[in-house]
Order: sequence, then structure tokens, then C-alpha cells
Amino acid sequence: MATEPVNIFEYEEIARERIEKGHYDFIAGGATDEITIRRTRAVFDSIMLRPRMMVDVDQRSMATTVLGQEIALPVMLDPAGNHSAAHPEAEIATVKAAGAAGTLMVLSSHASRTLEDVAESASGPLWFQQYFFKDRGLTLEMAARAEEAGYSAICMTLDAKIKPKRERNIRNDYVGGDSPNYAQLDLGTHTWKFAADAPAGPSDIRDVASTWDDLDWFASNIRLPVVVKGIMAGEDGRLSAENGAKGVIVSNHGGRYLDTTPATIEVLPEVVRAVDGNAEVYLDGGIRRGTDVFKALALGARSVLMGRPLFWGLAVDGEAGVRAVLDLLRDELDATMGMCGCSDVESISSAMIDTVSPLLAAFPTAAEFR
Ligand SMILES: Cc1cc2nc3c(=O)[nH]c(=O)nc-3n(C[C@H](O)[C@H](O)[C@H](O)COP(=O)(O)O)c2cc1C
Repeated sequence: MATEPVNIFEYEEIARERIEKGHYDFIAGGATDEITIRRTRAVFDSIMLRPRMMVDVDQRSMATTVLGQEIALPVMLDPAGNHSAAHPEAEIATVKAAGAAGTLMVLSSHASRTLEDVAESASGPLWFQQYFFKDRGLTLEMAARAEEAGYSAICMTLDAKIKPKRERNIRNDYVGGDSPNYAQLDLGTHTWKFAADAPAGPSDIRDVASTWDDLDWFASNIRLPVVVKGIMAGEDGRLSAENGAKGVIVSNHGGRYLDTTPATIEVLPEVVRAVDGNAEVYLDGGIRRGTDVFKALALGARSVLMGRPLFWGLAVDGEAGVRAVLDLLRDELDATMGMCGCSDVESISSAMIDTVSPLLAAFPTAAEFR
């Protein structure tokens, strides 16, 4: 019997044994009843593929570009704080694995290593994730630091203004740590509360009052392109592009903030339509299989990102574990593309998926019965 985990779910099973319970629950868990987390898997599982035969798929490529930078596969690494909860080499291990797989990592501003140290270990493209701070100077300073260190875009997380209710963390009295990325900043009387992964109150440096005008201001005042993260409505996709975003990540923060939102794949078509080609659209949330990546691309995502599986890979085998997780997705996507008659990512289309059983066509509709 093979001893290595053969899929990402098995990585999580092993990781669960190895990561301290408070950290594991913080990583795996979500807001209130975790309905969105479960729904996300259920929706991916309910989308069916329509395989096509006798297409020459001898030469297949998963390569694509994001904001003009080439990546070997349409799977990027989501920003997620504190990788040291899963492995002592933390984000250094993760960024090496991303580079080896030929893809891009988005570094969380709440990483357990400085953005400069992570950039030094990177061999692939990097984006830096941050928030709107109440102090506008600090917001620009953080972006400038990332630019100086070689990051090629700023990912602004929009959906983390309000403190979420995470019941596992409450039960565990979970207290996280601080990030060295804030140590160099002069925060004055403001603080950063990692424990809740959310603003703690008036002293928090994050700006709960920020609006689309602030996005426009930010995008006009930094040199790097801006990608926004946390879009779950077509209107907000349109407003992001109108206010300077070059990329839009359809995301519900992995179900960690607001519970009972739809799965991201359910709102992806609406956002793609509203953005109307004025920005690139990406998706995250629940990506665990190559078929999930294929379905997101079929519905208009340019690339996907994944969060929790990075921790599962790290906990099992550090850099090699993250690499293995990325390799699993790559191999599964490659096989899916081949069996659906796609030689490259451009040829993946909505004609290759279905959400309604073809069997329904064999039955009269309810209206016909009446
Ligand atoms: C432990 C953990 C920490 C996270 N920290 C951040 C963060 O600092 N900034 C951010 O924008 N998103 C953060 N996220 C959300 C991820 O970027 C991403 O949206 C989510 O994990 C995607 O869902 P998935 O985990 O099902 O792949 C975090 C997620 C997890 C699991």
C-alpha cells in the first residue's frame, strides 16, 4: 500500500494529527455553523463534466499568465497568515515550493516571516497582501516596502473589516501571534490582533470606514497593480475594475468571515459578466481537486488560488509537502484536461460542464403535469 497521501484530503487527515489543536481549528475552521465551507465542497461535487473524445491531446500545457506574468499552472498560493503554525520553516518553505512548481505566491501581511526574507527565498513571482489601514501613510508605506522587495502586485483584502464569530476559536481560547511585518512600522497607539484574524475594535489599524474611493486613491498612488480579494457580487466586481483594480479574486475568505454565503463558484459567472474583461478574475475557496480547478476555469476564472492545503502540505513534509500538494493538483488537472479534450487552458469552456443531470430531459416538466 502506498504510504504517501494520494490526495489533498489525506494530507489534511495527517496534518490534523500533527498540528496543535488550537492552530488546527483556526486553520480548518470558519465562521459560525461553517455552512459555507460544507456548501463549497457540495457545489464543486455537484458540477458534472462533459468529456469529449477523439481530440488530439498529445501535447498539453497548463501554462497561463496573471497580470502578464507566466505561471506553469493556473493554481496560485493564497495569502494566509502564520505558516509557522504548521512548520518551523514557515513561509520560506512555502515560497520555495511555489517557485519549484512554477507558480505565484501571495504573501499574507500576517506571515510569520518578513516580506523581505520571503522575497529573498523566492524563485517565482510574488504578490503582497495587505489591508486598508486607518493611517493612509502606513498603507502606502507597506505597499512601497513590498515593491522595493520585488513583489509585483498588491492584493487588497476587502472582506476582513468586521470581526467574525469563529466558535472553534472561542472554545479553544485561541490566541495567535503577531507578525514581524508589523514590527518595523510605527503603529502609534494602534495594534494588530492576529488572534481573531480580524479587527478588534477602535484601536485596530484596519480601516472599517474604507470605501471604493479609497481603492481608487490607493490604485492611483502606488506603482504596482492592485488585485482585490473578497468579491462575492457582480456589482462589486464592476466597482473594483472601475476603481482601479487590475485583478479581482472571487472569494468568501474560505468561509471564515460571513457564513451562509454561496460557494464562490456559484457567483463566479455573475462577477465575470459584470467585470466584462476590465480586470482579470480569479477564484479561491475549497479548491482540493484538479477537477475543481477545471470547473472554475470553465466558468471564467483565469486562475484559482488555495489556502488551507498549504498548511496541510507544510505539516506533512515542509517544502516537499507543499510541492507535493501542488503536484497532485497539477497532475489531476492535466488528466482532467486530457479527458475533456483540452490541450491548453484557453480551450476549457462552459460547454464542458453541466449542473443539471442530462437525465432530466427524459422527464416531463412539472408544468406539463398540470
Ligand atoms: C489559516 C488561514 C489564514 C488566512 N489568513 C489570511 C490573510 O492573512 N489574508 C487574507 O487575505 N486571507 C487569509 N486567509 C484566507 C485565504 O486567503 C483564502 O481566501 C481561503 O483560505 C481560501 O479557501 P481554502 O482555504 O478553502 O482554499 C486565510 C486562510 C486561512 C485558512
